[in-house]
Amino acid sequence: MTLLTRGARLVGTGSALPARVVTNAELAQRVDTSDEWIIARTGIRQRHVAGEGETTATLATDAARAALADAWLTPADIDLIILATATPDNTFPATATKVQNALGCNGGVAFDVAAVCSGFLYALATADSLLRTGAARRALVIGAETFSRILDWEDRTTCVLFGDGAGAVVLEAPDTIGDIAADASAPGIIATKLHADGAQHDLLYVDGGPSTTQTVGHVRMKGREVFRHAVVNLADVLAEVLEDADVSVEDIDWVVPHQANARILDATARKLGIAPEKVVVTVDRHANTSAASVPLALDEARRDGRIVTGDLIMLEAMGGGFTWGASLIRV
Ligand code: UT7
Repeated sequence: MTLLTRGARLVGTGSALPARVVTNAELAQRVDTSDEWIIARTGIRQRHVAGEGETTATLATDAARAALADAWLTPADIDLIILATATPDNTFPATATKVQNALGCNGGVAFDVAAVCSGFLYALATADSLLRTGAARRALVIGAETFSRILDWEDRTTCVLFGDGAGAVVLEAPDTIGDIAADASAPGIIATKLHADGAQHDLLYVDGGPSTTQTVGHVRMKGREVFRHAVVNLADVLAEVLEDADVSVEDIDWVVPHQANARILDATARKLGIAPEKVVVTVDRHANTSAASVPLALDEARRDGRIVTGDLIMLEAMGGGFTWGASLIRV
């Protein structure tokens, strides 16, 4: 799917992380691993892990509140909530409806999107589409996860890789039809490309679910294979978006990638010819927070002053399914 012409504007970002930090050294006491191995193979030094009372919905709500404050808006201004997650509070209803109720903006549209680590890109594209049609005026798009609750803590090949957290953005519909055909410097989502390949199911999946095992299950991954696909798929989709938008790689101010592995970030940047200084990195402190990782990184880079108004930013992600995608935005 390709979306072209100027779309929704990004008017606020926010994020939330659980208070508890788990270091590599702490994990090395539970499984046969080491700080050195984890840092060398992934770049991860620590991750945040949800504590008692913290769930995907509570983290998502905190991130949403921060994004609304950043946009100088209130929950009453929101008529669409899309929450990307692979770790919902319950099988149903959608965690987005819990967030809606916690914020107190009941009555609008609220639903979840399941595309695992690419979930935020899928949710962003869905919200953008609805905003472009006029079906909604302002949207909260949230990526929120508590992967710590679906990890096999005895499996060193997965339990060291993931963390919990949430990130959110507020999107605003283009004002007029005239704005949709805006010039290159106008703010908004410029081009988005999404893909999925269900044939790769067995490389990254959860071995449980309501309709199969009636259990929640645990994350299973063939890491080396996923790594190989990730570098190829991400470089390809980034090139597709650049071509669709008629933008060259030098025009990009910041790349905000899914944070699975520092080596994937390096390899993708190298393949595409993007300077490493232009890549926002949080994997060292957050590990892989699945759908939350892109909006978490985006919020960090906006708040610390790296991403400023007028910048051209590229978001990208790849995850279970496989699913992958990228979105070019003028902020
Ligand atoms: O978010 C969705 C997308 N996910 C990803 O993109 C993840 C992609 N994959 C990766 O990031 C990497 O493949 C991993 C970090 C998961 C693994 O790194 P790798 O360099 O591909 O290592 P490997 O799987 O080839 O394993 C190398 C060795 C193995 O031992 P042998 O067979 O060589 O004796 C593993 O058993 O490292 C061993 N190993 C570990 N050793 C210490 C695997 N996990 C650990 C561990 N600590 N935690």
